[in-house]
Amino acid sequence: MGKAEIFRWLLDVQPIWPVDESNGTSLAAREATTQWAKGKEAQYALNLLTGEERTKVLRFYRPSDAKLSLGSYLLKRRAISSKCKVSWPEAIISEDGNRKPCYKPLKTDGQALEFNVSHHGTLVALVGSLSKDLKLGVDIVRTNREKDHAMVMKEGFQAWANTYESVFSAREVKDIAEYVAPMHEDPQEVIRAKLRHFYTHWCLKEAYVKMTGEALLASWLKDLEFRRVQVPSPSTQEGNDWGQACKDVEIWFHGQKVNDVQLEIQAFKDDYMIATASSSVDASLSAFEELNLEKDVYH
Ligand SMILES: CC(C)(COP(=O)(O)OP(=O)(O)OC[C@H]1O[C@@H](n2cnc3c(N)ncnc32)[C@H](O)[C@@H]1OP(=O)(O)O)[C@@H](O)C(=O)NCCC(=O)NCCS
Repeated sequence: MGKAEIFRWLLDVQPIWPVDESNGTSLAAREATTQWAKGKEAQYALNLLTGEERTKVLRFYRPSDAKLSLGSYLLKRRAISSKCKVSWPEAIISEDGNRKPCYKPLKTDGQALEFNVSHHGTLVALVGSLSKDLKLGVDIVRTNREKDHAMVMKEGFQAWANTYESVFSAREVKDIAEYVAPMHEDPQEVIRAKLRHFYTHWCLKEAYVKMTGEALLASWLKDLEFRRVQVPSPSTQEGNDWGQACKDVEIWFHGQKVNDVQLEIQAFKDDYMIATASSSVDASLSAFEELNLEKDVYH
């Protein structure tokens, strides 16, 4: 059998499914999902979901959250339908014992698909593979959050790191608190760099726990330790949103080095990072493909 291939998709929901602003909509209405769902584009997309999926999307009060949920359903169904070669209605999303979304083919000899989704800000990412023996996890974080910055300014970085001691090992908390940011004159920039380092740790851990499927139930979060964490830098190239991808983090579990999990974290635009976890080091990670709604998702 050849090397497993992992495909990676990214959809930015910012420019799509705008709020219906006809009839002089008020600000309050524009901010409500019920109004957003009346828009022609949103209607078209919502009609591609099952009744139950639609209800879940419309439960979000804010259109920005509803859009992420809608994007997530569409990407999952598109992945199942296109990669497993089943019709759109047959691309049924199920959940495993840990409530991790998965696909269970209707036919016993049907093509399986391993996948995982993350959404944050305006982005939805899906990573997937047709390989049966692989587990995948993905996580998106956004780093420049004013509220984090304000809290660090008020309480200091050690207090910030201590808040997360139920998630990180003692060594990780120390690494986060004592991280020496690259040369910056401006103290604000130093905090920004330290927060970016913290979010790198966070994003890697989330991708790992999502790969296992245990997510919030994982009792071993503190026993999973990342060492030599490298912070990916945003791209400095005009016209290229994809920054550095870092793959060399050391993974330790209960004090033993883990050599059979592949972890990568990549910078996207100025303030996003996306981590991918794969239960095979040999599986090949394709570059993220930025999807076009009409061409790649609806088609
Ligand atoms: C859902 C969960 C797994 C991830 O939540 P999140 O990071 O806030 O959100 P993300 O956008 O990255 O992920 C949401 C997606 O995870 C997927 N997901 C849900 N349950 C999952 C599970 N058990 N395992 C893996 N993925 C899961 C879903 O596809 C969901 O998107 P959807 O509802 O649109 O299908 C969350 O419940 C969780 O357990 N997070 C870990 C929290 C934690 O303690 N983190 C500490 C650092 S690790």
